[in-house]
Amino acid sequence: MPAFRATAPGKIILFGEHAVVYGQPALAVPVPAVRAQAVISAAPNLPAGELRLTAPAVGLEDVVWSQLAPEHPLRRAVDLTLAALQRSRPLAARMRVTSSIPVAAGLGSGAAVTVAVVRALSGFLGAPLPSEQVNAIAYEVEKIHHGTPSGIDNTVVTYAMPVYFVRGRPVQTFRVARPFTLVIADTGVPAPTAQAVADVRRAAEAHPQTYEDLFARIGALVEQARQAIEEGAPERLGALMDANHRLLQQMGVSCPALDRLVAAAKAAGAAGAKLSGGGRGGNMIALVPPQASPRRAADIAAALQSAGATRTIVTTLR
Ligand code: MEV
Repeated sequence: MPAFRATAPGKIILFGEHAVVYGQPALAVPVPAVRAQAVISAAPNLPAGELRLTAPAVGLEDVVWSQLAPEHPLRRAVDLTLAALQRSRPLAARMRVTSSIPVAAGLGSGAAVTVAVVRALSGFLGAPLPSEQVNAIAYEVEKIHHGTPSGIDNTVVTYAMPVYFVRGRPVQTFRVARPFTLVIADTGVPAPTAQAVADVRRAAEAHPQTYEDLFARIGALVEQARQAIEEGAPERLGALMDANHRLLQQMGVSCPALDRLVAAAKAAGAAGAKLSGGGRGGNMIALVPPQASPRRAADIAAALQSAGATRTIVTTLR
């Protein structure tokens, strides 16, 4: 049986994080420059049905899958894939999982690992699962990472397309009428999304009217941003990003490191900038002015690094 390999991209949220958990729309896009990968190959010398997992990033070296705790994300991804295929156990095989997506940085690393594992395992077993099922499994595993995820991360990573997402509604992809370039910068501050999502929930329960209003204003920005992207007017996105960042600050999910990078990007000529993902650390995004020379992206990235970014990625959406 040949080895089977599957990969899945990272993602960023353009607009609408947190509010999306409460039913507002959000826009997210894949980031193909960073990826998770799973490679599975037959291991005829292992006992029948024994799948061994190696995932250096989480300290797993040739571990039998069924010996992991049931709520371990990799174990859960394998269990749910086998259940979807109505198989009680895999074939004797070894799977190696690697990823270049920074962890706990708002780039969808957990979702991408799950999607790669589900696709590699189901493909290896000769029954590649359709995207809808891959997405449903990735959502279940996201619950271990995030508690109450909206489902946006697993959706954009599964479909690897720009997504307009409303919780509980069918997936809608959207068209980028004119390309635009973003610089993604990592604060280097690890920030598990679950914590930020739980804090927003507590604050929203304590001040329902204030948070309802914040969520609705973010939802309105998302609609304007989608329109700008589909109409080929990315220059309108800068002001919308700035406004979205201010609302996220009011929501309490920014932090000094994110605000410093947002200010540095703007000072270096970005048309707009905001945190992206759960906040409290992780990544921010800056819009390169659509008319600017290609050098401008490098200048903004250099300014972000001088302001403390531990990693920058330049990505063009088309
Ligand atoms: C995380 O990438 C985005 C959040 O809105 C959480 C979620 O949608 O599940 C913060």
